Amino acid sequence: MKELLENAVDAGATEIRLFVQDGGKSLIQVVDNGKGMSETDARMAFERHATSKIREIDDLFHIKTMGFRGEALASVAAVAQVELKTRRPEDEAGTRIEIENSRVVKQEPVAMHPGTIISMKNLFFNVPARRNFLKSHAAEMRHVVDEFIRVALSFPSIFFSLSGNGHELLHLEKGSLKQRILQVLGSSFASKLVSVQENTDYLNIYGFVGKPETAKKTRGDQYFFVNNRYIRSPYLHHAVMNAFTEMIPQECFPLYVLFVDLDPTQVDINVHPTKQEIKFEDEKIVYAFVQAAVKHALAQYSITPTLDFDLDPAIQRLEAVSKPVSEEKKAEVASSSLYKTFTQKNQAHFIEPSNKSELKHWKDFYEAPPANPTTAAGAASAGGTATPGEETWMSQAPAKIMPIENAPLQQLLNTYIVTPTNRSFILVHQQAAHERILYERFQTASVGTRIPSQKSLFPVTLTLSAPDSILLTELLPDLQLLGYDIGPFGKDSFIIQGTPADVAGGNEKGVLENLLEQYKNFTSEIRFSKREKLIRTMARQQAIKPGATLTEKEMRTLVDELFACAQHNITPGGDPTYIEFKKDYVERLFGR
Ligand SMILES: Nc1ncnc2c1ncn2[C@@H]1O[C@H](COP(=O)(O)OP(=O)(O)OP(=O)(O)O)[C@@H](O)[C@H]1O
Ligand SMILES: [Mg+2]
Repeated sequence: MKELLENAVDAGATEIRLFVQDGGKSLIQVVDNGKGMSETDARMAFERHATSKIREIDDLFHIKTMGFRGEALASVAAVAQVELKTRRPEDEAGTRIEIENSRVVKQEPVAMHPGTIISMKNLFFNVPARRNFLKSHAAEMRHVVDEFIRVALSFPSIFFSLSGNGHELLHLEKGSLKQRILQVLGSSFASKLVSVQENTDYLNIYGFVGKPETAKKTRGDQYFFVNNRYIRSPYLHHAVMNAFTEMIPQECFPLYVLFVDLDPTQVDINVHPTKQEIKFEDEKIVYAFVQAAVKHALAQYSITPTLDFDLDPAIQRLEAVSKPVSEEKKAEVASSSLYKTFTQKNQAHFIEPSNKSELKHWKDFYEAPPANPTTAAGAASAGGTATPGEETWMSQAPAKIMPIENAPLQQLLNTYIVTPTNRSFILVHQQAAHERILYERFQTASVGTRIPSQKSLFPVTLTLSAPDSILLTELLPDLQLLGYDIGPFGKDSFIIQGTPADVAGGNEKGVLENLLEQYKNFTSEIRFSKREKLIRTMARQQAIKPGATLTEKEMRTLVDELFACAQHNITPGGDPTYIEFKKDYVERLFGR
Protein backbone atom coordinates (compact mmCIF):
# COMPACT_ATOMS: atom_id res chain seq x y z
CA MET A 1 0.00 0.00 0.00
CA LYS A 2 2.80 2.33 0.86
CA GLU A 3 4.56 1.48 -2.39
CA LEU A 4 1.42 2.10 -4.42
CA LEU A 5 0.92 5.49 -2.80
CA GLU A 6 4.52 6.41 -3.45
CA ASN A 7 4.22 5.41 -7.09
CA ALA A 8 1.24 7.72 -7.40
CA VAL A 9 3.25 10.53 -5.84
CA ASP A 10 6.15 9.85 -8.20
CA ALA A 11 3.72 9.96 -11.13
CA GLY A 12 2.99 13.58 -10.28
CA ALA A 13 -0.58 13.00 -9.11
CA THR A 14 -2.36 15.87 -7.40
CA GLU A 15 -5.18 13.67 -6.13
CA ILE A 16 -4.69 10.25 -4.62
CA ARG A 17 -7.44 8.04 -3.29
CA LEU A 18 -6.91 4.85 -1.34
CA PHE A 19 -9.68 2.28 -0.96
CA VAL A 20 -9.24 -0.60 1.41
CA GLN A 21 -11.43 -3.61 2.15
CA ASP A 22 -11.01 -5.71 5.29
CA GLY A 23 -7.87 -4.01 6.46
CA GLY A 24 -6.35 -4.50 3.02
CA LYS A 25 -6.65 -8.26 3.01
CA SER A 26 -9.36 -8.29 0.35
CA LEU A 27 -8.50 -5.12 -1.50
CA ILE A 28 -6.02 -2.29 -1.64
CA GLN A 29 -6.76 0.12 -4.44
CA VAL A 30 -4.99 3.35 -5.28
CA VAL A 31 -6.51 5.79 -7.75
CA ASP A 32 -4.36 8.65 -8.97
CA ASN A 33 -4.54 11.37 -11.60
CA GLY A 34 -0.84 11.18 -12.42
CA LYS A 35 0.91 10.84 -15.72
CA GLY A 36 -0.11 7.22 -16.38
CA MET A 37 1.76 4.66 -18.44
CA SER A 38 1.87 3.63 -22.06
CA GLU A 39 0.69 0.15 -23.00
CA THR A 40 4.25 -1.22 -23.12
CA ASP A 41 5.30 0.48 -19.93
CA ALA A 42 2.23 -0.90 -18.18
CA ARG A 43 3.32 -4.45 -18.97
CA MET A 44 6.94 -3.64 -18.18
CA ALA A 45 6.14 -2.15 -14.81
CA PHE A 46 5.71 -5.57 -13.25
CA GLU A 47 9.11 -6.86 -14.35
CA ARG A 48 11.70 -6.89 -11.63
CA HIS A 49 14.11 -3.96 -11.84
CA ALA A 50 11.80 -2.14 -14.21
CA THR A 51 11.99 1.43 -13.12
CA SER A 52 11.55 4.54 -15.14
CA LYS A 53 13.10 6.59 -12.39
CA ILE A 54 16.77 5.90 -12.82
CA ARG A 55 18.19 6.52 -16.24
CA GLU A 56 21.87 6.76 -15.53
CA ILE A 57 24.24 5.68 -12.81
CA ASP A 58 24.50 9.19 -11.51
CA ASP A 59 20.76 9.27 -10.78
CA LEU A 60 21.37 6.67 -8.10
CA PHE A 61 23.12 9.27 -6.04
CA HIS A 62 20.54 11.96 -6.52
CA ILE A 63 17.30 10.17 -5.89
CA LYS A 64 14.46 12.65 -5.95
CA THR A 65 11.60 10.17 -6.37
CA MET A 66 10.20 7.89 -3.70
CA GLY A 67 10.84 4.81 -5.85
CA PHE A 68 14.08 3.83 -7.51
CA ARG A 69 14.47 0.06 -7.32
CA GLY A 70 11.80 -1.18 -9.68
CA GLU A 71 10.94 -3.78 -7.06
CA ALA A 72 7.61 -2.80 -5.70
CA LEU A 73 5.19 -3.76 -8.44
CA ALA A 74 7.05 -6.99 -9.17
CA SER A 75 6.73 -7.95 -5.51
CA VAL A 76 3.08 -7.01 -5.41
CA ALA A 77 2.38 -9.07 -8.53
CA ALA A 78 3.93 -12.10 -6.88
CA VAL A 79 1.66 -12.10 -3.84
CA ALA A 80 -1.69 -10.72 -4.91
CA GLN A 81 -4.09 -10.63 -7.81
CA VAL A 82 -3.41 -7.32 -9.48
CA GLU A 83 -5.45 -5.23 -11.82
CA LEU A 84 -3.83 -2.19 -13.40
CA LYS A 85 -5.70 0.40 -15.38
CA THR A 86 -3.67 3.29 -16.68
CA ARG A 87 -3.88 6.03 -19.23
CA ARG A 88 -1.55 8.84 -20.23
CA PRO A 89 -3.28 12.17 -20.90
CA GLU A 90 -2.01 12.10 -24.47
CA ASP A 91 -3.53 8.68 -25.24
CA GLU A 92 -7.08 8.10 -26.45
CA ALA A 93 -7.70 5.06 -24.33
CA GLY A 94 -6.11 3.37 -21.41
CA THR A 95 -4.74 -0.13 -20.85
CA ARG A 96 -6.14 -2.71 -18.50
CA ILE A 97 -3.94 -5.54 -17.32
CA GLU A 98 -4.72 -8.44 -15.03
CA ILE A 99 -1.95 -10.27 -13.27
CA GLU A 100 -1.90 -13.45 -11.29
CA ASN A 101 1.17 -15.28 -9.96
CA SER A 102 3.38 -12.68 -11.62
CA ARG A 103 1.90 -13.45 -15.03
CA VAL A 104 -0.19 -11.23 -17.25
CA VAL A 105 -3.42 -13.15 -17.71
CA LYS A 106 -5.35 -10.48 -19.56
CA GLN A 107 -4.69 -7.23 -21.38
CA GLU A 108 -7.24 -5.01 -23.08
CA PRO A 109 -7.96 -1.36 -23.87
CA VAL A 110 -10.13 0.49 -21.40
CA ALA A 111 -11.94 3.83 -21.33
CA MET A 112 -10.88 5.90 -18.36
CA HIS A 113 -9.70 9.33 -17.17
CA PRO A 114 -5.97 9.96 -17.38
CA GLY A 115 -4.13 8.48 -14.43
CA THR A 116 -3.71 5.09 -12.87
CA ILE A 117 -5.93 2.75 -10.90
CA ILE A 118 -4.12 -0.16 -9.38
CA SER A 119 -5.88 -2.82 -7.31
CA MET A 120 -4.32 -5.56 -5.23
CA LYS A 121 -6.83 -8.22 -4.38
CA ASN A 122 -6.68 -11.12 -1.95
CA LEU A 123 -3.26 -10.43 -0.56
CA PHE A 124 -1.16 -13.60 -0.17
CA PHE A 125 -3.90 -15.70 -1.84
CA ASN A 126 -1.10 -17.91 -3.12
CA VAL A 127 1.01 -17.90 0.06
CA PRO A 128 -1.34 -19.23 2.75
CA ALA A 129 1.38 -19.29 5.38
CA ARG A 130 1.83 -15.55 5.05
CA ARG A 131 -1.86 -14.92 4.75
CA ASN A 132 -2.33 -16.60 8.10
CA PHE A 133 0.19 -14.22 9.58
CA LEU A 134 -1.93 -11.20 8.79
CA LYS A 135 -3.52 -9.74 11.85
CA SER A 136 -7.20 -8.96 12.40
CA HIS A 137 -8.89 -6.57 9.98
CA ALA A 138 -8.77 -3.87 12.61
CA ALA A 139 -5.10 -4.36 13.36
CA GLU A 140 -4.14 -4.35 9.69
CA MET A 141 -6.30 -1.27 9.22
CA ARG A 142 -4.32 0.48 11.90
CA HIS A 143 -1.13 -0.15 9.95
CA VAL A 144 -2.80 1.09 6.79
CA VAL A 145 -3.83 4.31 8.51
CA ASP A 146 -0.35 4.76 9.97
CA GLU A 147 1.36 4.41 6.62
CA PHE A 148 -1.24 6.52 4.86
CA ILE A 149 -0.77 9.35 7.33
CA ARG A 150 2.99 9.27 6.87
CA VAL A 151 2.68 9.71 3.14
CA ALA A 152 -0.09 12.30 3.48
CA LEU A 153 1.98 14.38 5.90
CA SER A 154 4.93 14.54 3.56
CA PHE A 155 2.88 15.75 0.60
CA PRO A 156 0.43 18.38 1.86
CA SER A 157 0.04 19.79 -1.63
CA ILE A 158 -1.58 16.57 -2.79
CA PHE A 159 -5.20 15.76 -2.04
CA PHE A 160 -5.53 12.42 -0.22
CA SER A 161 -8.53 10.36 0.70
CA LEU A 162 -8.71 7.06 2.56
CA SER A 163 -11.77 4.82 2.58
CA GLY A 164 -12.21 1.60 4.53
CA ASN A 165 -15.03 -0.78 3.58
CA GLY A 166 -16.89 1.95 1.76
CA HIS A 167 -16.58 4.69 4.38
CA GLU A 168 -14.32 7.65 3.88
CA LEU A 169 -12.11 7.82 6.97
CA LEU A 170 -9.78 10.62 5.99
CA HIS A 171 -10.37 13.39 3.50
CA LEU A 172 -7.37 15.65 3.27
CA GLU A 173 -7.66 18.77 1.15
CA LYS A 174 -4.54 20.27 -0.35
CA GLY A 175 -2.99 22.91 1.81
CA SER A 176 0.01 23.97 3.81
CA LEU A 177 1.95 21.57 5.99
CA LYS A 178 0.36 23.12 9.04
CA GLN A 179 -3.12 22.60 7.67
CA ARG A 180 -2.27 19.00 6.84
CA ILE A 181 -0.98 18.38 10.35
CA LEU A 182 -4.17 19.78 11.83
CA GLN A 183 -6.31 17.69 9.48
CA VAL A 184 -4.48 14.54 10.41
CA LEU A 185 -3.56 14.97 14.05
CA GLY A 186 -6.52 17.00 15.15
CA SER A 187 -7.53 20.64 15.08
CA SER A 188 -7.03 20.80 18.85
CA PHE A 189 -3.40 21.56 18.00
CA ALA A 190 -4.40 24.71 16.11
CA SER A 191 -2.75 27.26 18.38
CA LYS A 192 -0.29 24.78 19.79
CA LEU A 193 2.23 24.32 17.02
CA VAL A 194 5.61 25.96 17.01
CA SER A 195 7.30 26.32 13.68
CA VAL A 196 10.82 25.00 13.26
CA GLN A 197 12.89 26.33 10.41
CA GLU A 198 16.62 26.46 9.98
CA ASN A 199 18.52 26.57 6.74
CA THR A 200 22.17 25.86 6.29
CA ASP A 201 24.18 24.78 3.32
CA TYR A 202 24.58 21.32 4.80
CA LEU A 203 20.98 20.70 5.69
CA ASN A 204 17.59 22.32 6.15
CA ILE A 205 15.15 21.56 8.88
CA TYR A 206 11.54 22.61 8.84
CA GLY A 207 8.26 21.52 10.32
CA PHE A 208 6.44 21.87 13.60
CA VAL A 209 6.69 20.77 17.17
CA GLY A 210 3.83 20.85 19.65
CA LYS A 211 4.05 23.25 22.56
CA PRO A 212 5.11 21.41 25.69
CA GLU A 213 1.59 21.37 27.13
CA THR A 214 0.43 19.17 24.28
CA ALA A 215 2.84 16.37 25.17
CA LYS A 216 1.02 13.11 25.64
CA LYS A 217 1.64 9.85 27.35
CA THR A 218 0.85 8.04 24.14
CA ARG A 219 3.44 7.95 21.48
CA GLY A 220 2.22 8.29 17.93
CA ASP A 221 2.41 11.93 16.94
CA GLN A 222 6.11 11.84 16.18
CA TYR A 223 7.21 12.04 12.59
CA PHE A 224 10.57 12.42 10.98
CA PHE A 225 11.06 12.79 7.29
CA VAL A 226 14.38 12.87 5.56
CA ASN A 227 14.24 14.21 2.03
CA ASN A 228 10.49 13.81 2.35
CA ARG A 229 10.70 10.15 3.22
CA TYR A 230 9.26 9.00 6.53
CA ILE A 231 11.94 7.35 8.61
CA ARG A 232 12.15 5.71 11.99
CA SER A 233 15.06 7.01 13.92
CA PRO A 234 15.32 6.49 17.66
CA TYR A 235 18.48 8.53 17.41
CA LEU A 236 16.84 11.66 16.02
CA HIS A 237 13.82 11.11 18.27
CA HIS A 238 16.25 11.36 21.12
CA ALA A 239 17.58 14.63 19.75
CA VAL A 240 14.08 16.15 19.87
CA MET A 241 13.34 14.71 23.29
CA ASN A 242 16.56 16.25 24.49
CA ALA A 243 15.48 19.65 23.25
CA PHE A 244 12.32 19.28 25.34
CA THR A 245 14.16 18.25 28.49
CA GLU A 246 12.58 19.70 31.61
CA MET A 247 9.76 21.25 29.64
CA ILE A 248 7.60 18.15 29.63
CA PRO A 249 7.02 15.49 32.25
CA GLN A 250 8.94 12.26 32.01
CA GLU A 251 7.37 9.55 29.91
CA CYS A 252 5.56 12.14 27.86
CA PHE A 253 6.07 12.66 24.18
CA PRO A 254 5.82 15.97 22.37
CA LEU A 255 4.19 16.12 18.98
CA TYR A 256 6.59 16.72 16.16
CA VAL A 257 6.51 16.64 12.39
CA LEU A 258 9.99 17.47 11.21
CA PHE A 259 11.53 17.43 7.79
CA VAL A 260 15.25 17.26 7.32
CA ASP A 261 16.47 17.87 3.80
CA LEU A 262 20.03 17.33 2.81
CA ASP A 263 22.13 16.43 -0.16
CA PRO A 264 21.10 12.90 -1.21
CA THR A 265 24.74 11.88 -1.27
CA GLN A 266 24.75 12.42 2.48
CA VAL A 267 22.14 9.72 3.11
CA ASP A 268 21.89 6.07 2.25
CA ILE A 269 18.30 4.93 1.92
CA ASN A 270 19.23 1.47 0.75
CA VAL A 271 19.81 0.02 4.17
CA HIS A 272 16.23 -1.11 4.72
CA PRO A 273 13.79 -2.89 2.39
CA THR A 274 10.97 -0.47 3.04
CA LYS A 275 13.32 2.50 2.98
CA GLN A 276 12.28 3.46 6.50
CA GLU A 277 15.71 3.31 7.97
CA ILE A 278 18.49 5.35 6.55
CA LYS A 279 22.09 5.99 7.23
CA PHE A 280 23.50 9.46 7.44
CA GLU A 281 26.97 10.15 6.24
CA ASP A 282 27.41 12.16 9.41
CA GLU A 283 24.68 11.40 11.88
CA LYS A 284 26.21 13.29 14.77
CA ILE A 285 25.96 16.56 12.98
CA VAL A 286 22.36 15.84 12.03
CA TYR A 287 21.61 15.05 15.66
CA ALA A 288 23.18 18.24 16.91
CA PHE A 289 21.33 20.35 14.37
CA VAL A 290 17.97 18.78 15.02
CA GLN A 291 18.35 19.35 18.71
CA ALA A 292 19.56 22.91 18.29
CA ALA A 293 16.83 23.77 15.79
CA VAL A 294 14.07 22.54 18.08
CA LYS A 295 15.56 24.35 21.06
CA HIS A 296 15.85 27.47 19.03
CA ALA A 297 12.22 27.25 17.94
CA LEU A 298 11.00 26.69 21.48
CA ALA A 299 13.11 29.56 22.74
CA GLN A 300 11.87 31.92 20.08
CA TYR A 301 8.31 31.32 21.10
CA SER A 302 9.43 32.08 24.61
CA ILE A 303 8.46 28.71 25.85
CA THR A 304 11.72 28.24 27.61
CA PRO A 305 11.98 30.88 30.32
CA THR A 306 15.76 30.73 30.23
CA LEU A 307 18.01 29.72 27.46
CA ASP A 308 19.93 27.17 29.40
CA PHE A 309 21.34 25.39 26.42
CA ASP A 310 23.57 22.65 27.57
CA LEU A 311 24.81 22.50 24.05
CA ASP A 312 28.21 23.35 22.88
CA PRO A 313 28.50 27.09 22.20
CA ALA A 314 29.34 26.34 18.59
CA ILE A 315 25.82 25.10 18.15
CA GLN A 316 24.21 27.21 20.78
CA ARG A 317 25.02 30.50 19.14
CA LEU A 318 22.14 30.76 16.80
CA GLU A 319 24.16 31.67 13.77
CA ALA A 320 25.74 28.27 14.05
CA VAL A 321 22.35 27.01 13.13
CA SER A 322 21.27 29.68 10.76
CA LYS A 323 24.48 30.42 8.95
CA PRO A 324 25.97 28.25 6.26
CA VAL A 325 28.24 25.58 7.62
CA SER A 326 31.78 25.93 6.47
CA GLU A 327 34.25 23.10 6.64
CA GLU A 328 35.83 24.98 9.49
CA LYS A 329 32.55 25.19 11.38
CA LYS A 330 31.93 21.52 10.78
CA ALA A 331 35.29 20.74 12.28
CA GLU A 332 34.50 22.98 15.21
CA VAL A 333 31.24 21.18 15.83
CA ALA A 334 32.89 17.84 15.40
CA SER A 335 35.44 18.55 18.05
CA SER A 336 32.95 20.02 20.48
CA SER A 337 32.02 18.23 23.65
CA LEU A 338 28.51 17.52 22.46
CA TYR A 339 29.90 15.71 19.49
CA LYS A 340 32.17 13.69 21.67
CA THR A 341 29.26 12.47 23.73
CA PHE A 342 28.16 10.49 20.73
CA THR A 343 31.15 8.31 20.33
CA GLN A 344 29.28 5.13 19.68
CA LYS A 345 27.26 4.52 16.55
CA ASN A 346 23.52 4.46 17.12
CA GLN A 347 23.90 5.22 20.74
CA ALA A 348 22.74 8.59 21.78
CA HIS A 349 24.21 8.67 25.21
CA PHE A 350 27.38 6.93 25.88
CA ILE A 351 28.08 7.30 29.54
CA GLU A 352 31.22 5.89 31.08
CA PRO A 353 30.21 3.82 34.09
CA SER A 354 31.55 5.90 36.94
CA ASN A 355 32.66 3.21 39.33
CA LYS A 356 32.86 -0.23 37.92
CA SER A 357 34.08 -2.03 41.00
CA GLU A 358 31.15 -0.84 43.03
CA LEU A 359 28.73 -1.87 40.36
CA LYS A 360 30.15 -5.32 40.16
CA HIS A 361 29.95 -5.89 43.85
CA TRP A 362 26.31 -4.97 43.87
CA LYS A 363 25.59 -7.21 40.92
CA ASP A 364 27.26 -10.20 42.52
CA PHE A 365 25.04 -9.69 45.43
CA TYR A 366 21.91 -9.47 43.37
CA GLU A 367 22.42 -12.07 40.70
CA ALA A 368 21.54 -15.71 40.92
CA PRO A 369 23.90 -17.96 42.87
CA PRO A 370 27.12 -19.17 41.28
CA ALA A 371 26.91 -22.34 39.26
CA ASN A 372 29.11 -24.38 41.58
CA PRO A 373 26.59 -26.39 43.63
CA THR A 374 28.56 -26.51 46.86
CA THR A 375 29.15 -22.80 47.14
CA ALA A 376 25.68 -22.15 45.78
CA ALA A 377 24.14 -23.83 48.74
CA GLY A 378 23.65 -20.68 50.67
CA ALA A 379 23.56 -17.93 48.12
CA ALA A 380 20.88 -15.31 47.94
CA SER A 381 18.27 -16.41 45.50
CA ALA A 382 16.44 -14.09 43.24
CA GLY A 383 12.83 -15.18 43.42
CA GLY A 384 12.33 -16.68 40.04
CA THR A 385 15.51 -16.91 38.06
CA ALA A 386 15.99 -20.60 37.57
CA THR A 387 19.64 -21.47 37.15
CA PRO A 388 21.31 -24.84 37.54
CA GLY A 389 22.74 -23.60 40.78
CA GLU A 390 19.42 -22.64 42.15
CA GLU A 391 17.96 -26.01 41.43
CA THR A 392 20.52 -27.71 43.63
CA TRP A 393 20.04 -25.13 46.25
CA MET A 394 16.27 -25.54 46.15
CA SER A 395 16.53 -29.26 46.72
CA GLN A 396 18.58 -28.67 49.86
CA ALA A 397 16.36 -25.96 51.18
CA PRO A 398 13.57 -26.70 53.61
CA ALA A 399 10.13 -27.18 52.16
CA LYS A 400 8.09 -24.49 50.46
CA ILE A 401 8.87 -20.92 51.36
CA MET A 402 6.21 -19.20 53.47
CA PRO A 403 6.32 -15.83 55.16
CA ILE A 404 5.83 -16.15 58.89
CA GLU A 405 2.31 -15.25 59.80
CA ASN A 406 1.94 -11.95 61.65
CA ALA A 407 5.71 -11.41 61.62
CA PRO A 408 6.68 -7.74 61.53
CA LEU A 409 6.83 -6.11 58.12
CA GLN A 410 9.10 -3.24 57.35
CA GLN A 411 9.08 -1.02 54.29
CA LEU A 412 12.52 0.08 53.14
CA LEU A 413 13.25 3.01 50.86
CA ASN A 414 9.53 3.12 50.06
CA THR A 415 10.16 0.31 47.60
CA TYR A 416 10.87 -2.95 49.39
CA ILE A 417 9.23 -4.87 52.16
CA VAL A 418 11.42 -6.98 54.35
CA THR A 419 9.94 -9.90 56.24
CA PRO A 420 11.11 -13.22 57.72
CA THR A 421 10.02 -16.56 56.26
CA ASN A 422 10.07 -20.09 57.56
CA ARG A 423 13.62 -20.52 56.19
CA SER A 424 15.12 -17.08 55.47
CA PHE A 425 14.23 -13.46 55.14
CA ILE A 426 13.03 -11.87 51.97
CA LEU A 427 13.05 -8.50 50.34
CA VAL A 428 9.81 -8.10 48.40
CA HIS A 429 9.74 -5.58 45.58
CA GLN A 430 6.40 -3.87 46.06
CA GLN A 431 5.86 -3.03 42.40
CA ALA A 432 6.94 -6.42 41.08
CA ALA A 433 4.85 -8.22 43.66
CA HIS A 434 1.77 -6.16 42.95
CA GLU A 435 2.22 -6.70 39.24
CA ARG A 436 2.08 -10.46 39.76
CA ILE A 437 -1.01 -10.20 41.97
CA LEU A 438 -2.88 -7.98 39.50
CA TYR A 439 -1.84 -10.17 36.59
CA GLU A 440 -3.37 -13.28 38.14
CA ARG A 441 -6.46 -11.35 39.16
CA PHE A 442 -6.96 -10.01 35.63
CA GLN A 443 -6.40 -13.44 34.16
CA THR A 444 -9.27 -14.79 36.22
CA ALA A 445 -11.41 -11.82 35.27
CA SER A 446 -10.84 -12.27 31.58
CA VAL A 447 -12.28 -15.76 31.63
CA GLY A 448 -15.42 -14.98 33.60
CA THR A 449 -15.85 -12.90 36.72
CA ARG A 450 -15.34 -9.40 35.43
CA ILE A 451 -13.56 -6.79 37.47
CA PRO A 452 -16.08 -4.47 39.07
CA SER A 453 -16.33 -1.13 37.40
CA GLN A 454 -16.80 2.11 39.21
CA LYS A 455 -19.02 4.62 37.46
CA SER A 456 -17.37 7.97 36.92
CA LEU A 457 -19.20 10.92 38.43
CA PHE A 458 -18.39 12.95 35.37
CA PRO A 459 -17.93 10.82 32.28
CA VAL A 460 -14.86 11.98 30.42
CA THR A 461 -14.51 12.06 26.67
CA LEU A 462 -11.30 11.14 24.98
CA THR A 463 -10.31 12.02 21.44
CA LEU A 464 -7.58 10.01 19.85
CA SER A 465 -5.63 10.02 16.64
CA ALA A 466 -7.10 7.77 13.96
CA PRO A 467 -4.69 4.86 14.57
CA ASP A 468 -5.12 4.98 18.34
CA SER A 469 -8.85 5.12 17.94
CA ILE A 470 -8.81 1.96 15.87
CA LEU A 471 -6.63 0.30 18.46
CA LEU A 472 -8.90 1.26 21.33
CA THR A 473 -11.98 0.07 19.45
CA GLU A 474 -10.30 -3.26 19.02
CA LEU A 475 -9.58 -3.52 22.75
CA LEU A 476 -13.00 -2.42 24.00
CA PRO A 477 -14.52 -5.90 24.64
CA ASP A 478 -11.53 -6.96 26.72
CA LEU A 479 -11.38 -3.65 28.56
CA GLN A 480 -15.03 -4.21 29.45
CA LEU A 481 -14.16 -7.44 31.27
CA LEU A 482 -11.33 -5.69 33.05
CA GLY A 483 -13.54 -3.06 34.57
CA TYR A 484 -13.50 -0.28 32.02
CA ASP A 485 -16.79 1.10 30.80
CA ILE A 486 -16.00 2.86 27.57
CA GLY A 487 -18.16 3.52 24.57
CA PRO A 488 -17.72 5.12 21.14
CA PHE A 489 -18.61 8.80 21.08
CA GLY A 490 -18.42 10.05 17.53
CA LYS A 491 -15.49 10.07 15.20
CA ASP A 492 -12.28 8.99 16.96
CA SER A 493 -13.84 9.91 20.30
CA PHE A 494 -14.80 7.78 23.24
CA ILE A 495 -16.65 8.31 26.47
CA ILE A 496 -15.23 6.84 29.63
CA GLN A 497 -18.08 6.09 31.99
CA GLY A 498 -16.38 3.79 34.42
CA THR A 499 -12.99 2.53 35.43
CA PRO A 500 -11.83 -0.49 37.44
CA ALA A 501 -12.82 0.00 41.06
CA ASP A 502 -9.16 -0.12 42.10
CA VAL A 503 -8.08 2.68 39.82
CA ALA A 504 -8.37 6.04 41.49
CA GLY A 505 -10.71 8.35 39.62
CA GLY A 506 -9.82 11.80 38.39
CA ASN A 507 -7.30 10.95 35.71
CA GLU A 508 -9.20 8.47 33.57
CA LYS A 509 -7.95 10.07 30.41
CA GLY A 510 -4.29 9.97 31.35
CA VAL A 511 -4.62 6.40 32.55
CA LEU A 512 -6.10 5.28 29.25
CA GLU A 513 -3.62 7.17 27.13
CA ASN A 514 -0.85 5.63 29.13
CA LEU A 515 -2.44 2.21 28.77
CA LEU A 516 -2.50 2.53 24.99
CA GLU A 517 1.08 3.65 24.94
CA GLN A 518 2.22 0.76 27.08
CA TYR A 519 0.17 -1.64 25.01
CA LYS A 520 1.80 -0.42 21.84
CA ASN A 521 5.18 -1.20 23.32
CA PHE A 522 4.08 -4.80 23.33
CA THR A 523 3.04 -5.03 19.70
CA SER A 524 6.21 -6.74 18.60
CA GLU A 525 5.54 -9.59 20.98
CA ILE A 526 3.63 -11.74 18.54
CA ARG A 527 3.66 -14.71 20.88
CA PHE A 528 1.09 -13.05 23.11
CA SER A 529 -2.59 -12.78 22.35
CA LYS A 530 -4.27 -9.41 22.36
CA ARG A 531 -5.84 -10.18 25.72
CA GLU A 532 -2.61 -11.38 27.26
CA LYS A 533 -0.88 -8.20 26.17
CA LEU A 534 -3.65 -6.10 27.59
CA ILE A 535 -3.59 -7.93 30.91
CA ARG A 536 0.15 -7.62 31.19
CA THR A 537 0.00 -3.96 30.32
CA MET A 538 -2.71 -3.24 32.86
CA ALA A 539 -0.95 -5.18 35.59
CA ARG A 540 2.20 -3.19 34.97
CA GLN A 541 0.33 0.07 34.81
CA GLN A 542 -1.78 -0.38 37.91
CA ALA A 543 0.92 -1.84 40.13
CA ILE A 544 2.02 0.28 43.09
CA LYS A 545 5.09 2.21 42.14
CA PRO A 546 8.37 2.46 44.02
CA GLY A 547 8.22 5.50 46.22
CA ALA A 548 4.71 4.84 47.50
CA THR A 549 4.57 4.61 51.26
CA LEU A 550 2.55 1.61 52.40
CA THR A 551 0.68 1.15 55.65
CA GLU A 552 1.20 -1.93 57.77
CA LYS A 553 -2.12 -3.27 56.54
CA GLU A 554 -1.28 -2.66 52.88
CA MET A 555 2.04 -4.43 53.26
CA ARG A 556 0.35 -7.38 54.94
CA THR A 557 -2.22 -7.68 52.15
CA LEU A 558 0.45 -7.40 49.51
CA VAL A 559 2.65 -10.14 50.99
CA ASP A 560 -0.30 -12.43 51.71
CA GLU A 561 -1.74 -12.01 48.24
CA LEU A 562 1.64 -12.53 46.64
CA PHE A 563 2.14 -15.85 48.35
CA ALA A 564 -1.40 -16.86 47.44
CA CYS A 565 -0.51 -16.48 43.76
CA ALA A 566 -0.12 -19.53 41.58
CA GLN A 567 3.40 -18.41 40.69
CA HIS A 568 4.52 -16.01 43.35
CA ASN A 569 8.21 -15.70 42.63
CA ILE A 570 8.28 -13.85 39.31
CA THR A 571 6.46 -11.06 37.51
CA PRO A 572 4.65 -11.89 34.29
CA GLY A 573 7.71 -10.48 32.53
CA GLY A 574 10.02 -12.89 34.37
CA ASP A 575 11.67 -10.58 36.89
CA PRO A 576 11.90 -11.68 40.52
CA THR A 577 9.16 -10.44 42.84
CA TYR A 578 11.36 -10.96 45.87
CA ILE A 579 14.90 -11.86 46.77
CA GLU A 580 15.54 -14.44 49.40
CA PHE A 581 18.43 -14.29 51.86
CA LYS A 582 19.35 -17.55 53.49
CA LYS A 583 21.21 -17.44 56.73
CA ASP A 584 24.42 -19.15 55.60
CA TYR A 585 24.69 -16.74 52.69
CA VAL A 586 24.44 -13.74 54.94
CA GLU A 587 26.89 -15.35 57.33
CA ARG A 588 29.34 -15.80 54.50
CA LEU A 589 29.03 -12.16 53.65
CA PHE A 590 30.15 -11.49 57.19
CA GLY A 591 33.11 -13.80 56.65
CA ARG A 592 31.80 -16.37 59.11
N1 LIG B 1 0.79 5.11 -10.40
C1 LIG B 1 1.69 5.10 -11.38
N2 LIG B 1 1.63 6.03 -12.38
C2 LIG B 1 2.55 6.03 -13.38
N3 LIG B 1 3.56 5.16 -13.48
C3 LIG B 1 3.67 4.21 -12.54
C4 LIG B 1 2.75 4.14 -11.44
N4 LIG B 1 3.10 3.09 -10.67
C5 LIG B 1 4.20 2.55 -11.24
N5 LIG B 1 4.55 3.22 -12.36
C6 LIG B 1 5.68 2.88 -13.25
O1 LIG B 1 6.06 1.56 -12.98
C7 LIG B 1 7.43 1.47 -12.63
C8 LIG B 1 7.63 0.37 -11.62
O2 LIG B 1 7.10 0.73 -10.37
P1 LIG B 1 7.77 0.16 -9.05
O3 LIG B 1 7.10 0.73 -7.88
O4 LIG B 1 7.83 -1.33 -9.19
O5 LIG B 1 9.25 0.70 -9.16
P2 LIG B 1 9.84 2.12 -8.77
O6 LIG B 1 8.80 3.00 -8.20
O7 LIG B 1 10.55 2.66 -9.97
O8 LIG B 1 10.91 1.72 -7.65
P3 LIG B 1 10.61 1.12 -6.18
O9 LIG B 1 10.66 -0.37 -6.31
O10 LIG B 1 11.73 1.66 -5.36
O11 LIG B 1 9.27 1.60 -5.80
C9 LIG B 1 7.79 2.85 -12.16
O12 LIG B 1 9.15 3.15 -12.35
C10 LIG B 1 6.88 3.76 -13.00
O13 LIG B 1 7.48 4.01 -14.23
MG1 LIG C 1 7.61 2.41 -6.57
